Amino acid sequence: MFKILKKQKLNEAVTSFTVEAPFIAKKVKAGQFVIIRLDKTGERIPLTVSDFDRTAGTVTTAGQAVGYSTKKLATFCEGDFIADMVGPLGCPTEFGNPKKAIVIGGGVGCAIAYPQAKALKNMGAEVTVIAGFRSKDIVILEEQMKKVSDKLYITTDDGSYGQKGFVTDVLNGLIVKDSYDLVIAIGPVPMMKFVSAATKPYGIKTLVSLNPIMIDGTGMCGGCRVSVGGETKFACVDGPDFDGHLVDFDELTLRNGFYKEEEAHACKMGGLN
Ligand code: NAD
Ligand code: FES
Repeated sequence: MFKILKKQKLNEAVTSFTVEAPFIAKKVKAGQFVIIRLDKTGERIPLTVSDFDRTAGTVTTAGQAVGYSTKKLATFCEGDFIADMVGPLGCPTEFGNPKKAIVIGGGVGCAIAYPQAKALKNMGAEVTVIAGFRSKDIVILEEQMKKVSDKLYITTDDGSYGQKGFVTDVLNGLIVKDSYDLVIAIGPVPMMKFVSAATKPYGIKTLVSLNPIMIDGTGMCGGCRVSVGGETKFACVDGPDFDGHLVDFDELTLRNGFYKEEEAHACKMGGLN
């Protein structure tokens, strides 16, 4: 059993939980994830680790309440227990040794982009963060991202806060003027696709964090397979980070969409709750 020590609502739909998990906290690195089950019969939920404290023995994750289990998790309170937490899973992010990096977060993906920016800052890199949201009311982690970046750009699709437009509008303006060794993008698939397309002509190393449907999280079920550079990879064991210039984003979109249609169909037929 894993005790929830801190619960923090980041916006209406996104909540972060800090959980007592000393063995995971001891080993976890930026980019890795855990799989939790809320109770013995619960479904498995993969959650990227958004922060950790080795001394306190805690692991923090942030999740958006979108499905049955993530909505149930959002009702859990400080002092409650999560039945299972397995991890750390996946490969840690391979940052290399960048001098100048851009970290891009899209919506709830900012919860995962934040620890990446923090890790880069701790390595001594100059870090620019671009964080994109649909509107002002769902902006998350602004103060935290400011602390771990040399420059922070916030964009909103509707212009209600920061710069009006997509994260790619800011990115295009930066890479045309200056040179960068690394771009990390975490957010919706179209965002990661267009970030990768923007950086490719400049030859800037670009890492994206993929979160396809996952079941076992150990490379056994094949549910999370993605095509990278013409090869089949499993996001849970080979990723979740991949070279954005090699990822087949269109196939990923199709696979995710197929699952959603199946899910929608099953919901209509009463097959899922
Ligand atoms: P969203 O749809 O509100 O988009 C957030 C921002 O992404 C937008 O404001 C915009 O700046 C940018 N964006 C979106 N589409 C774009 C496009 N076509 N071109 C350029 N930029 C674009 O995001 P949301 O609803 O908060 O969803 C976040 C997504 O992040 C979810 O799909 C979730 O699955 C994913 N996510 C991924 C991880 C991971 O580890 N890979 C972790 C958390 C969330
Ligand atoms: Fe089953 Fe990755 S989740 S192979």
